[in-house]
Amino acid sequence: MPTNCDPTSPVLRIAVVGYGARGGLARLVASAPVPASVVAVADPEPSARAAAQNHFPDADIVAAVEAVGRPDGIDAAIVLTPDDTHADVAIPLLEAGIPVFLEKPMAITLTEADRILAAAATTGTGLFVGHNFRRTGVMKTLARIIGDGLIGEVKTIWVRHFVGNGGDYYFRDWHADRSRSNSLLLQKASHDIDAIHGLAGAYTRRVTAMGELSVYGAVAERLERPGQTMADWFSYDNWPPQASPVAPVVDVEDVSMVLMALDGGILASYQQCHFSPDYWRNYTVIGTHGRAENIGDTGGGVVRVWNRRRAWDPRGDLEFPIHADPEGHADADQETIDEFLEMVANQSWSSPGAAGAAAAWEALVAARQAVAVGDLATRSLRGGSVPMDVPPLPKVVADRLP
Ligand SMILES: NC(=O)c1ccc[n+]([C@@H]2O[C@H](COP(=O)([O-])OP(=O)(O)OC[C@H]3O[C@@H](n4cnc5c(N)ncnc54)[C@H](O)[C@@H]3O)[C@@H](O)[C@H]2O)c1
Repeated sequence: MPTNCDPTSPVLRIAVVGYGARGGLARLVASAPVPASVVAVADPEPSARAAAQNHFPDADIVAAVEAVGRPDGIDAAIVLTPDDTHADVAIPLLEAGIPVFLEKPMAITLTEADRILAAAATTGTGLFVGHNFRRTGVMKTLARIIGDGLIGEVKTIWVRHFVGNGGDYYFRDWHADRSRSNSLLLQKASHDIDAIHGLAGAYTRRVTAMGELSVYGAVAERLERPGQTMADWFSYDNWPPQASPVAPVVDVEDVSMVLMALDGGILASYQQCHFSPDYWRNYTVIGTHGRAENIGDTGGGVVRVWNRRRAWDPRGDLEFPIHADPEGHADADQETIDEFLEMVANQSWSSPGAAGAAAAWEALVAARQAVAVGDLATRSLRGGSVPMDVPPLPKVVADRLP
């Protein structure tokens, strides 16, 4: 794949690697403020290539990333492949000097996440992990409430995650196979672990967890779905959870709970259930002067604050509307792509001492810490709930931090 990273080029030339259910992210390139265009798409799956050809008729559509061969080169790659491929896809791109947008989670193990980070550190190539959830309206609202001091100093965060779409999102394809995703505590929760760290302003040092495969493991009907993506089988009619066929391999937990001890004595918990009928996250953040909690997590929802002594009152003392897409996270997706393209256009990761470089590395460390917690919590829940300590950053990465 020839590279010709030209910061003066008027339109950034983007290669997309993997064009499945998350392919919609690549289509947001066209609506970013930084001029950019998808010039190549690589995917081994013929149906994915057909979909890409349809959406990007002028792009080179190829089966393997190595075959992306535009003579004028590309400026950056957006990697939307399954989690277990992230290291093997991203590292050669970084080594070729191509800035990479890598979907979350960064990798399925801490070892692989550290390999990717080390490649970014040693090559000096830009890397950006697509943690869009931290950019959602609900997270921004909670962050603002904390930043404005409305609940004092954060001391504990409790997250309940009702993954009502869990059957369709995670139990009908590779996500349900622990060799492909490790666990849904890592796969899905990496968003929330990242968010917890952001709201607390601190990283987890120690985790312990429990989990079970309680519901989907008992489904007898198994189905391969070649050439299909999640949108092909998603339906609210797939209910109750055991009524629809699942993937041939289902060995990840469908209910899991993790306890986290963060720096500064902050404690957090996260519970995730994939057979709940409703799909949303409920955060409670308690500080020295009050408590905040979201009711709904998209546009139309609210965050309430309780900051006076009382008995039970669901209305709270203050209420803040969540300004966001009412359906999901399309707005956060656009912001995520916009930030990546801006990073590429400005090459902001490569200016030592610049605010952009510091922010880029801070975000990478956050993405790594989310993988660390998910991976270690999984080892804990599969190993008798033993507490696990998060190891420090590899030296090559720590040395690179601004
Ligand atoms: N941030 C979010 O909100 C969010 C939401 C969904 C998925 N994701 C992440 O996005 C990524 C993609 O998920 P998905 O649901 O689209 O998966 P998917 O299985 O629907 O699509 C993945 C595509 O990658 C292709 N692929 C596999 N190996 C490849 C390789 N080596 N080179 C090129 N293409 C390859 C597959 O053929 C497939 O078309 C995953 O990492 C997932 O965790 C993030």
